[in-house]
Amino acid sequence: MTPDFDRAVALLRAGELVAFPTETVYGLGADAANPAAVAKIFAAKGRPADHPLIVHICGHDAVDRWAEQVPAFAWELMEAFWPGPLTLILKKQAWVPDAVTGGQETVGLRVPGHPLALELLRRFAASGGGVSGQAGIAAPSANRFGRISPTTAAHVLEELGSGPNSRVPLILDGGPCAVGIESTIVDCSRGEPVVLRPGHIAPAHLEAVIGCRPLIETASGAPRVSGSLAAHYAPQTPMRLISSERLLDFINAQRHKGDICGVISHNQPPQAGMPHLWRMLPADPIGYAHDLYAALREMDHAGVSLITVESLPDSPVWAAVADRLRRAVAGAGQP
Ligand code: TXA
Ligand code: MG
Repeated sequence: MTPDFDRAVALLRAGELVAFPTETVYGLGADAANPAAVAKIFAAKGRPADHPLIVHICGHDAVDRWAEQVPAFAWELMEAFWPGPLTLILKKQAWVPDAVTGGQETVGLRVPGHPLALELLRRFAASGGGVSGQAGIAAPSANRFGRISPTTAAHVLEELGSGPNSRVPLILDGGPCAVGIESTIVDCSRGEPVVLRPGHIAPAHLEAVIGCRPLIETASGAPRVSGSLAAHYAPQTPMRLISSERLLDFINAQRHKGDICGVISHNQPPQAGMPHLWRMLPADPIGYAHDLYAALREMDHAGVSLITVESLPDSPVWAAVADRLRRAVAGAGQP
């Protein structure tokens, strides 16, 4: 079915919300220049209002309308990785509303790599670009605050509902997201690049383009980057990370206690006779990222009492998924 772009653009122009696919996760979008529309995003998600949102734009040429003092290395990163799973934090233009920046002097910008998201952005621009004419779509991940990001349209529906009486009147369906975890965030507003959130684009990829290793700011718990809160991306079921060596013993012990155990592994194949819900994910970080959030959701639905996850290798290529897993464990099981 062709996505209903006309309705999506009409809703954005009317200050309403539209959920749409990106290559990372589904976003919950609104006209980024319309504070009343942006406020609806925070209400729908239950997200604290001082958390800044990413503004999605159609291409490099829109950057100067949202940001100023853009350093040369930021242009190099855009050239190399946009459209794609990279968000750049830049000094904002004075007009950019506090509603979208959380009152900060910076704005997060990204050109998403999903054809449907790009087409929505282009059509929004062609229709006049919203209240500012600058055609930015503010969009956090389309989940309730702190929960697992959606990687299919069905996940968005489950998180936020849809339809005339819901806060989200329209969800555009673009199939499952190719990447599956949120974009890499690089702060370009401090004179040198600083990775605020790891993702599919790794520090080594950034270094190959800009010629120096970016700094990495690890979780501070500061709400400035909500993905940096220790507890985030979390299922409702408690979770444990267990090393490959201890996995079978641990699961057996859980069974003897009478627990209904869910298992997510990547090396250890499911064992015959173990009556658990067992998902074996691909043993490479790209495949694993693609499937991780759907697997956590499945475990939540199945009503298991504990999600046991086989620990990941301690290597840079696994850093982004390991980061999401750590936060999921920290936030899991909370009401
Ligand atoms: O892949 C993604 O980035 C997805 C898709 C929809 O684009 N979006 C996403 O948005 O993950 P959200 O809101 O769930 O996470 C965006 C992160 C937040 O942690 C937010 O705090 C940070 O970006 N952020 C946005 N603007 C910022 C700014 N000016 N300074 C620092 N952090 C910022
Ligand atoms: Mg999010």
